[in-house]
Amino acid sequence: MEVLEGERVPLVAESETCFSLGGVAEANWQIVLRKRPAGVPTAEDFEARQGAVDEPRTGEVLLRNLYLSIDPAIRGWMSDAKSYLPPIGIGEPIRSGTLSQIVESSAEGWPAGQIVQALAAWESYSVVSSRSLHGRVKTVEGIPLSSMLSVLGGTGLTAYFGLLDVGQPKQGETVLVSAAAGGVGSIVGQIAKIKGCRAAGLTGSDEKCAWLIDELGYDAAINYKTASLRVALKEACPDGIDVFFDSVGGEILNTVLTRLNYHGRVALCGAISQINAAELPPGPSNYLQLLAKSARMEGFTTLDFARRYDEARADLAHWIREGKIRYRDDIVEGLDEAPAHLLRLFSGEHRGKLLVKLADAEV
Ligand SMILES: NC(=O)c1ccc[n+]([C@@H]2O[C@H](COP(=O)([O-])OP(=O)(O)OC[C@H]3O[C@@H](n4cnc5c(N)ncnc54)[C@H](OP(=O)(O)O)[C@@H]3O)[C@@H](O)[C@H]2O)c1
Repeated sequence: MEVLEGERVPLVAESETCFSLGGVAEANWQIVLRKRPAGVPTAEDFEARQGAVDEPRTGEVLLRNLYLSIDPAIRGWMSDAKSYLPPIGIGEPIRSGTLSQIVESSAEGWPAGQIVQALAAWESYSVVSSRSLHGRVKTVEGIPLSSMLSVLGGTGLTAYFGLLDVGQPKQGETVLVSAAAGGVGSIVGQIAKIKGCRAAGLTGSDEKCAWLIDELGYDAAINYKTASLRVALKEACPDGIDVFFDSVGGEILNTVLTRLNYHGRVALCGAISQINAAELPPGPSNYLQLLAKSARMEGFTTLDFARRYDEARADLAHWIREGKIRYRDDIVEGLDEAPAHLLRLFSGEHRGKLLVKLADAEV
């Protein structure tokens, strides 16, 4: 199939979660937003396109994208709701965190060859302003490069600061984690254990519950899809909950509030159960539990802690080397796999951090 520059190719849905570019050889491929999703995104919301590789202007760099970070935030940018970043425009490549290598630079201090973390897009090559570069990547011995987008990148840093700075767990306390088998959650429970806490996790299958306990050292795990949550929380957290690290929101948050201890803390990391909703539901009806327990609920974004990333990375790398933190990256290869991988965030068909590999770094 011949594709002309600028021509759009609809992604073919081979099954509900499998997409293909129709066997077309990759050049500067992009996956663009074809239309705004109504609810959970589908194949029809994306389109593949072959674009030009632009020249970087002053202050810009040309990146070759090596890995894409598949994050719930992308779903937020696909809608036209107000957020901390503007919505992705129709026809624009899907915005994404990336691990990239600078191919050509017109920005001082960012030489060609440097590997960087960037805010770029689902495309082979991106031209971005140096302001979209979030740091030079220093590889850590014994830890693969891809971990700079996972355990030593956004997910690990979110777990670290959200739990330790916002949740402030103390030895002997109980920490409950929602989306516990995901990229962020799988790290949170292990940090809680390092700090001498009891760790309990919520996830959507018995297999993932077993993984949390057997591999990651969680003390208890609840399959929220099959359990009666109130009853299961009493068993999993017999002394109540001191810290709730919440990535899910909605009814799970509402129920957990009833089990919060005096001076309990809720670290509001995300609300993935609400991310595809057309309209937001009323706030948690049990919010007065916060008053009754003199508890607090505090939101955060990882960027709040940007000045301390090196400190967190040093701790995380140390814990990995000591065998105290295990992590799993769920990596698929090829740009055409990105939409299906995004959908796994909502179906829960994954463990650990979702990444798409596009290319190897050039030495
Ligand atoms: N505050 C920040 O700065 C920041 C930064 C990064 C990420 N986050 C947030 O952190 C959370 C986790 O992100 P991640 O990238 O690590 O994703 P993830 O946890 O790897 O994937 C999301 C998981 O959420 C669960 N889930 C999906 N829909 C659900 C629903 N309706 N009800 C209950 N559980 C549901 C699924 O697991 P199950 O099988 O367990 O259902 C899925 O695997 C997200 O809420 C994200 O927005 C926040």
